[in-house]
Amino acid sequence: MADKEYTDPERMEKIVSLCKRRGFIYQSAELYGGLNGCWDYGPLGVEVKRNLKDYWWRRNVQEREDIVGLDGSILTHQAVLTASGHVGGFSDPMCDCLLSKARLRADQIEPQSGTAYHYSGASEGEWTVERRFAVLLREGQNENKARKTARQYYAQFHPNKSLSPKTLELQGETTSQEENTTSFNPENGSLLTEAREFNLMFKTQMGASSSEDDPNAVAYLRPETAQSIFTQFKNVLDTSRMKVPFGIAQIGKAFRNEINPRNFTFRSREFEQMEIEYFCRPGDGLRLTDEWLENRLSFYEDIGLPREKLHVLDVPDGERAHYSEKTYDIEFDFPFGCQELEGVAYRTNYDLSKHQEHSGKPIEYFDETTKEKFIPHVVEPSAGCDRTVLALLCEAFDEEDVVDTKGKTETRTVMRLNPKIAPIKAAIFPLLKKNEDQVRISREIQEELGSFMHVFYDETGAVGRRYRRQDEVGTPFCITVDFETLGEEDPELKGTVTLRHRDSMEQERVAIADLLPRLLREIR
Ligand code: GAP
Repeated sequence: MADKEYTDPERMEKIVSLCKRRGFIYQSAELYGGLNGCWDYGPLGVEVKRNLKDYWWRRNVQEREDIVGLDGSILTHQAVLTASGHVGGFSDPMCDCLLSKARLRADQIEPQSGTAYHYSGASEGEWTVERRFAVLLREGQNENKARKTARQYYAQFHPNKSLSPKTLELQGETTSQEENTTSFNPENGSLLTEAREFNLMFKTQMGASSSEDDPNAVAYLRPETAQSIFTQFKNVLDTSRMKVPFGIAQIGKAFRNEINPRNFTFRSREFEQMEIEYFCRPGDGLRLTDEWLENRLSFYEDIGLPREKLHVLDVPDGERAHYSEKTYDIEFDFPFGCQELEGVAYRTNYDLSKHQEHSGKPIEYFDETTKEKFIPHVVEPSAGCDRTVLALLCEAFDEEDVVDTKGKTETRTVMRLNPKIAPIKAAIFPLLKKNEDQVRISREIQEELGSFMHVFYDETGAVGRRYRRQDEVGTPFCITVDFETLGEEDPELKGTVTLRHRDSMEQERVAIADLLPRLLREIR
């Protein structure tokens, strides 16, 4: 049984650093100090993300007769999100640190115990300020720490901004014992404001003449891709002749003004979702939720996340979203703890009913065989694309000691990405860049394979170093064109190359003519 609390910050640091160093993921607007909660995928990251989305789409749309696709707009009509409940209720409780002004998710603050030092205000000469403030000290901390923190807090209100907080006189100090309180910032002990609800949607104005008060000019960046599927349900039904049970799939960006973006790309403000709304008869919802759970677990195993690192949380009553009668969270053992990858939720007919009610237009389904009319229920497997990429990168990262040809031990960093997901499928090297025949044949191989997959040509440095560079970005195969390829050492080997395998580092001779079919089989 895996330890769900286990974390490995050092490993995570190495992964984040490799992602930047090798061009997987960069902080957005890094040049200007960074845009918090936003990330840019570099040349290799974009390939990984694309491979994941393509594979998800192939498995869930192209290989199935009962699911069709949609690409809805990101800008969303306020009426859609009012009907769905997002305008009224898509919020998280948040509070602010009185000292640092940091904003925290109230429901994520670790309970703490200790002695709280309370103050009613502070003074300096003629100047006074009356405000209640408190600092929590954990066992063993010196009381002067509370006074220093309190002085820093009250100094913010003094007209002389360069005044030393040490000169302030604190007023009305009292203490109390606190058990499991969440009223103080764990970082600095400062009192927090009361929790209040904070809507997570990004609101915007549409149209050149829009005024801030015109409700018709308000639009939102969608907080989930699902809503355009619900609002286009009738159009898809009428134009694609699908019959219940059937699904509509969508991959696309979603936006949430998260209070605390964190853990690299895990909780971002802009992210991509891969969602399916699978419409069914009311009586089939719970069964299909279980079936989708198994389907999704096998998908993750297929792309390289081991089953023992995937956990299923049956979300208890009271903790599910307002629309859900049953939700399974699929969680993964990230280096920062066991966290949600995907939700598989039985949303009943909540959304379609709400859109029917708010739009005043019928969204019912007519069953030709039973002659019944009903609003379909829906099962929703909703995956995070960025979270899955992150899980794949975390799982793939490995360091191992290897002995080189001179008997020296070195650490090999290798991304053991599944070949379907790997950003570069094969790297092609001429053994010697000065050998014209080796270079010509390498370029021919590059051209042939390059029409079918992403390949990379490299002729610089020793072959061993070229292998290491590819290991670090997860390239599953390296192809070396050498003297044997030219038939100079053994005529029987003419027209063959060395195919080197990333994980085992084993090498084999393969005919150039067999490379394409062989690699196509391996990367599918
Ligand atoms: N349509 C249902 C829905 O949006 P959700 O549990 O809020 O449900 C689904 O989101 C998935 O989207 C999550 O399991 C996660 O993978 C991804 N996701 C949600 N918020 C995210 C964020 N702030 N950053 C990255 N991914 C996020």
